[in-house]
Amino acid sequence: MKRVLTYGTFDLLHHGHIRILRRAREMGDYLVVAVSTDEFNAGKGKKSYMDYATRAEIVAAIRYVDKVIPERSWEQKVEDIVDNDIDIVVMGDDWADSDRFDYLRDYCELVFLPRTEGVSTTEIKEDLRREGKLLD
Ligand code: CTP
Repeated sequence: MKRVLTYGTFDLLHHGHIRILRRAREMGDYLVVAVSTDEFNAGKGKKSYMDYATRAEIVAAIRYVDKVIPERSWEQKVEDIVDNDIDIVVMGDDWADSDRFDYLRDYCELVFLPRTEGVSTTEIKEDLRREGKLLD
């Protein structure tokens, strides 16, 4: 039984989110998703539309997701891996050129999956701000 862990904010859920969660789950048998808390995001200067409880509720309802935990800090990853008996950590390839997560390879496999082209929460927010982007 392989256990997979991934991280993210998952605000205004879109198909890029669904696809990375599906692919992450396909890499194993059990998927844990660490959803960034509002406080953690605030520390990064990021503010989501949906609060943590709402984002966690939505992510937990996705069929590929077995468990949701809060992501409260950058430093919690090793603890998450050990506590949840994780074999593989999956990240979007926006991090692939960085060595900042290399230390995790002492604890599990680290896999970068390609992001879905052409969509992000930031782009959705920008589109909605502009006129003419709504279907009605
Ligand atoms: N992701 C993806 N493809 C996209 C957007 C996101 O595979 N088009 C992945 C990210 O790589 C990450 C997870 O989905 O592993 C959660 O990303 P998140 O930052 O919550 O989503 P974004 O749409 O990138 O949000 P933002 O624009 O606020 O950065």
